[in-house]
Amino acid sequence: MNYDKVLASPVVSIPPSGIRRFFDVASTMQGVISLGVGEPDFVTPWNIREASIHSIEHGRTHYTSNHGMPELRELICEYLSRRYGVRYDLSSCLVTVGASEALDLAFRALLNPGDEVLIPAPSYVSYAPCVTLAHGIPVAVPTYEEDAYALRADVLESFLNERTKAVILPYPNNPTGGIMTRPQIDAVTRVLSGRDVVMIADEIYSELTYGGTHESFAKGMEDRTILINGFSKAFAMTGWRLGYACGPKPLIDMMVKIHQYTMLCAPVMAQTAGIEALKDALSSDFAQVRAMRNAYNRRRLLIYEGFKDMGLPVFEPRGAFYIFPSIRETGMTSEQFCERLLKEGRVATVPGNAFGDAGEGHIRCSYAASTDNIMESLRRIRVFLNHLN
Ligand SMILES: Cc1ncc(COP(=O)(O)O)c(C=O)c1O
Repeated sequence: MNYDKVLASPVVSIPPSGIRRFFDVASTMQGVISLGVGEPDFVTPWNIREASIHSIEHGRTHYTSNHGMPELRELICEYLSRRYGVRYDLSSCLVTVGASEALDLAFRALLNPGDEVLIPAPSYVSYAPCVTLAHGIPVAVPTYEEDAYALRADVLESFLNERTKAVILPYPNNPTGGIMTRPQIDAVTRVLSGRDVVMIADEIYSELTYGGTHESFAKGMEDRTILINGFSKAFAMTGWRLGYACGPKPLIDMMVKIHQYTMLCAPVMAQTAGIEALKDALSSDFAQVRAMRNAYNRRRLLIYEGFKDMGLPVFEPRGAFYIFPSIRETGMTSEQFCERLLKEGRVATVPGNAFGDAGEGHIRCSYAASTDNIMESLRRIRVFLNHLN
């Protein structure tokens, strides 16, 4: 069979993930410390695990409603309202298999062939490929370190045209650690007002901001925003695969249709765990989430000071758990740097170009790693840099 003939061209056209490629190499090597993976090193809090175990013991092993369990959706709406002043009701909330499924559903529900989606760059690796798979055209909108990697309204405006269907608003940002302030958000929403352009706010890192609470793009903009969030980062629940999308009912209804036929529902065990996560957080003033955030904050300062001491130009991240130092001065591309650092220094990081061309000249390090591992990686990176000089 001629496989080139049978494969769908959008799939053939997208590159394999630049992150995975590195980890496949790293996993075959001894003694490597990874600052690569974007996931909490904490185990899911015990009360959350226990609630799920308990439900399995009691035989809750069946499909749920396509939308997700009503109790969970109610809690999600209460959480968004209390925490971020965002108001969606139950019928506008869909529980998904991670924020990942919610993103995919949003693109598939919105895009006709040739529609453009504006994506601040650098950004999360999945946006552009998922837009392509949904037959849309991803368009990178640059963000700049001198703006603390916030999306500038005037820059965004210069990319808008009659083909623009949606804008992704990925803050706090992976990989830069940039966040958006309320005045910056207002400037962006002003530019979009009066246009049929949907805002897709990926706020998966909303609980991880340092020095100030997260501002949601959906606040006051519920009628034009698909708000995507989930349990992976805030509650250390990456493996449970639980997320959600809230948005205007006509859009969520279409997303539910796709979800109905392709996924049926998110796993019931994960949904039960999500109910416990939100109930506990809402009744304890987010004590466990806060404890994890405080730990990330200490590590953030440690790694930031470490890179500064080495003399690498580095932006102080304000959210998520990544830092994005510049390695331009070494004269290497980000891939060359990461490959040599992995082989010679035994530290796994992610080349900035995995996040689009705008990320070239940088590396992404995750500080969701233990303090010991962060300190040892900093030592190894320093030795590696000294050998270069
Ligand atoms: C910005 C961003 N959005 C979405 C996701 C996917 O999250 P989930 O585990 O909920 O699918 C990630 C994972 O790293 C991410 O960094």
